[in-house]
Amino acid sequence: MKQKVMEVLQAILAENIEDQMIEVPVYTRLGDYALPCFPLAKKMKKSPVLIAEEIAALIKDSSIEKAEAVNGYVNIFMKRTGFTQSIMNEILSDSNQYGSSNIGNGRVITIDMSSPNIAKPFSMGHLRSTVIGNSISLLHEKSGFQPVKINYLGDWGTQFGKLLVAYRLWGNEKQVQEKPIESLLMLYIRFHKEAEQDESLNDKGRAAFKSLEDGDPEALALWKWFRTESLKEFQKIYDLLGVSFDSYQGEAYYNDKMEPIVEELNQKNLLMESNGALVVDVGEHMPPCLIKKSDGATLYATRDITAAIDRFTTHQFAKSLYVVGNEQSLHFAQLKIVLNKMGYEWADSLQHIPFGLILKNGKKLSTREGKIVLLEEVLKEAIQLAEANIEEKNPKLLNKKEIAQAVGVGAIIFSDLKQHRKHDIEFDLKKMLQTEGETGPYLQYSYARACSILRKAGEVESFHVTEVNDHEWEVIKQLEIFPQIVSRATTELDPSVVAKYAVSLAQTFNSYYGNVQIVTNSNLMEYRVSLVHCVVIVLGEALRLLGIQAPEEM
Ligand code: ARG
Repeated sequence: MKQKVMEVLQAILAENIEDQMIEVPVYTRLGDYALPCFPLAKKMKKSPVLIAEEIAALIKDSSIEKAEAVNGYVNIFMKRTGFTQSIMNEILSDSNQYGSSNIGNGRVITIDMSSPNIAKPFSMGHLRSTVIGNSISLLHEKSGFQPVKINYLGDWGTQFGKLLVAYRLWGNEKQVQEKPIESLLMLYIRFHKEAEQDESLNDKGRAAFKSLEDGDPEALALWKWFRTESLKEFQKIYDLLGVSFDSYQGEAYYNDKMEPIVEELNQKNLLMESNGALVVDVGEHMPPCLIKKSDGATLYATRDITAAIDRFTTHQFAKSLYVVGNEQSLHFAQLKIVLNKMGYEWADSLQHIPFGLILKNGKKLSTREGKIVLLEEVLKEAIQLAEANIEEKNPKLLNKKEIAQAVGVGAIIFSDLKQHRKHDIEFDLKKMLQTEGETGPYLQYSYARACSILRKAGEVESFHVTEVNDHEWEVIKQLEIFPQIVSRATTELDPSVVAKYAVSLAQTFNSYYGNVQIVTNSNLMEYRVSLVHCVVIVLGEALRLLGIQAPEEM
């Protein structure tokens, strides 16, 4: 509709009308769109009031009901019935394809996401990366890209040498099998404690990692086992979240692929020696990028450089995203510069997608010694709370367990995505599970309410729009902008655009539901029920794009 208004104004003004020149008034009585004439006054050498009056008088179009000049604004009212009929037809025939596009044209976009560290707890940061990455992937898929979700596991590095030593000294097979993450973490913590007394432990750790790098079968077998057990634990979380990956190639995968890259850096004259270590100079504003330690060990950066090149060779990506916390900004800035210096033009399509912290009572949730917040337990607590809510509100509901899972997990996902990812977020389970306000359960309740109207009304064959009241019109205007919302969220890599949209769609739907009798015996029923059907399609699709399930009953 906005496009139409822009065309009409363009023809009258004979000048380029840009999207942001047209406002959407807060109150429907001020029209559907408004053109403020103040910016035009200088150029046209007339008062805005006069300009508005002239323009309003010239607006004549079959899609526009009327145009009014008010205090320097042209307020434009659209013809409701025609638009309503055609938007609803479009949504009902496209169904869940509504809002899909081919902006991506099949281009590949790799998304480095989740990427927890083996033998360590899955942190709140990894939760954010998983949830944000998943939504960015779903958005790109809807916009015609081909996303590749990569779980770049932290499964390599000197810490695994320490873990091997600790396990050989104090480990217990059964314990690791029963509680892999917890018991491996305890071993790691014990290693550090004992190393304070016994210096030789650190040397043993280094030697153990060296043996791992060199492919010692016994070390490798233990490492593989730690990895498998840890992955089993992580898988429980992914199952609860409903997230899957296209690849689990982590840091270890690049162990035997780094040498040629170090050699390439050398050939291209990029390596410098600094205190025995090999580094790449990345300019004055940043510390140099460490490629090899003085003992010849490779580093996090070495592996990421190798992985980036490998990903481009494999996927020829149009974009390569890294959904990783703010605190790694320097690392990704260095990565990009090094790849640029190596002459890889595609380095410019690498993009770090940073995000803020999850706080509890204003403090960072962390893995303090001996006290670990296991994410699986947090998710389970959310599910339990959701179940208690359901038990209270709707004890007769079938599949309570499944629905509680969708609600508990949905609440956590929504609270993560509702603000721009760069903000820190306060983790408050009770608050995010409320069914009022901007929460996941609020959206799910709204969706279930709409579904129950459809169940009550039964099949509706066809409908004919004869009049559109203000409540219906508000819903229509929300439904109409969904495709723009999807494309904006995709290009801005910002799921919160969809999250905020879902809230306003649910709000307008709820006020429609509260003010208009939908299931009536008048001839308006078919149209009104069909409008609810459109809401079910679009709200359901918005929730899906956030990675949130939408139960039909709650
Ligand atoms: N495993 C790392 C961590 O937990 C995150 C890895 C992010 N991805 C990457 N390509 N560096 O901090």
